[in-house]
Amino acid sequence: MAASAFALAVPGKHTGEGTYYATGLTACGVTNNDSEYIAAVSHLLYDSFPGYSGGNPNHNPICGKSVTAHYKGKSVTVKITDRCVGCAKWDLDFSPAAFSKLAAFEIGRLEGVTWSFNN
Ligand SMILES: *[C@@H]1O[C@H](CO)[C@@H](O)[C@H](O)[C@H]1NC(C)=O
Repeated sequence: MAASAFALAVPGKHTGEGTYYATGLTACGVTNNDSEYIAAVSHLLYDSFPGYSGGNPNHNPICGKSVTAHYKGKSVTVKITDRCVGCAKWDLDFSPAAFSKLAAFEIGRLEGVTWSFNN
């Protein structure tokens, strides 16, 4: 396989919990709805993302990054548009549309979601 033409800011495979939430105005400054394929990352990752030096969270380079998440043989690709205060470092808080690609809403909290950045 050819080497990637660019270096991922945060390479590698991460494991955390997956949850979902009611979307709206995000930390990235965009307004999402529950049908869009988006997710929030933890405040820990958001605030320490390479290239983000604090200040206006709308300008965080994590905004708009694509990640693909896997859970029990299912996967979904989402854009990062938000910051999750209640999340542990590698958790993802998905829109309802995205979460529903991985599991039923009744499950609520998914243990062992693996994911990585696509760009
Ligand atoms: C959600 O947002 C997308 C992208 O802006 C838009 O295409 C879609 O119509 C919206 N859906 C609802 C239910 O508002």
